[in-house]
Amino acid sequence: MIDRIMLTTADPEDPGEIELEVGLRPKDFDSYIGQRRLKQNLRLAIAAAKKRSDPLDHILLYGPPGLGKTTMASVIANEMGAQIRITSGPAIERAGDLASLLTNLQDGDILFIDEIHRLHRVIEEVLYSAMEDFKLDIMLGKGPSARSLRLDLPKFTIIGATTRTGALAAPLRDRFGMIHRLEFYTASEIEQIIIRSAKILGVGIDKKAASILAQRARLTPRVANRLLKRVRDYADVNGDGIIDVELSSKALDLLEIDELGLDVSDRLLLSAVIDNYGGGPVGVETIAALMAEERTTIEDFIEPYLLQLGLLERTPRGRKATHKAYLHLGKKPAIPTTEHNTLL
Ligand code: ADE
Repeated sequence: MIDRIMLTTADPEDPGEIELEVGLRPKDFDSYIGQRRLKQNLRLAIAAAKKRSDPLDHILLYGPPGLGKTTMASVIANEMGAQIRITSGPAIERAGDLASLLTNLQDGDILFIDEIHRLHRVIEEVLYSAMEDFKLDIMLGKGPSARSLRLDLPKFTIIGATTRTGALAAPLRDRFGMIHRLEFYTASEIEQIIIRSAKILGVGIDKKAASILAQRARLTPRVANRLLKRVRDYADVNGDGIIDVELSSKALDLLEIDELGLDVSDRLLLSAVIDNYGGGPVGVETIAALMAEERTTIEDFIEPYLLQLGLLERTPRGRKATHKAYLHLGKKPAIPTTEHNTLL
């Protein structure tokens, strides 16, 4: 996995990193900036569940990393007045791990499963009846003497998070009553998040500097908060601790993040498509090999933002760099793009 400040999730080895993420996370819908439609839908579902004294329906949140799926799950739990347990698909190795998680829940609790698309198929199957009927089917023993046992479970809610719903088996997807995509934030929402985070961190930032950071934060709160932390370091060492336009620009240049928020890996991908394949179309496997990256790293971490900005296109025959990508990298389009050019 390549090392980019925007790629990794909170590093569990670095307590400062977790503290940063946790401390800055909004606790309720009112302080959660952005995702307006999702919040409207969730507010309604929560009010209805409370009115009927029912558990909340299972919820699947999907979208690119860093957009706030875990944060939203904690907000939902808080708004429901429920406890939340947090785990992830790869952490549940055996059916027994899932059984122990589920039997330790209480009525109304929320179980958050991050990267739910990485659950083993066997475990997924145990989850079906747990999600549908609040029953846990477990096998005792092996061979002819094996017996199955059905346990009652508390009325819990699963919130699953995934970068791609397509990677989820249909029977699992169908058991979620609500499926919502988290959208990229607008630059203005990111700016508000930066100003809010700066206040919590106790660091001064002027509005113009917040706007510059927002332009370069990939429309992603996690990236915005990381950039803020890096720029704060720079301001503490090279300035008087106040983040202004000049300091932010210098710090961002040092991080090699350009004015669209692209970093070295983004530019490498676009240059690979343009310089080696005449702008494409080229298959994602080929790009991955060329960049010495996993296909999933390209698809989950790098491409979504390039697609969002309209620098890259997904076609049935592969990825294509757009005219905008050529312009951004200061390269001359190989293929004529205007009628005038075509006639020449
Ligand atoms: N910090 C991280 N994500 C946030 C959001 N959506 N709203 C407010 N603060 C945040």
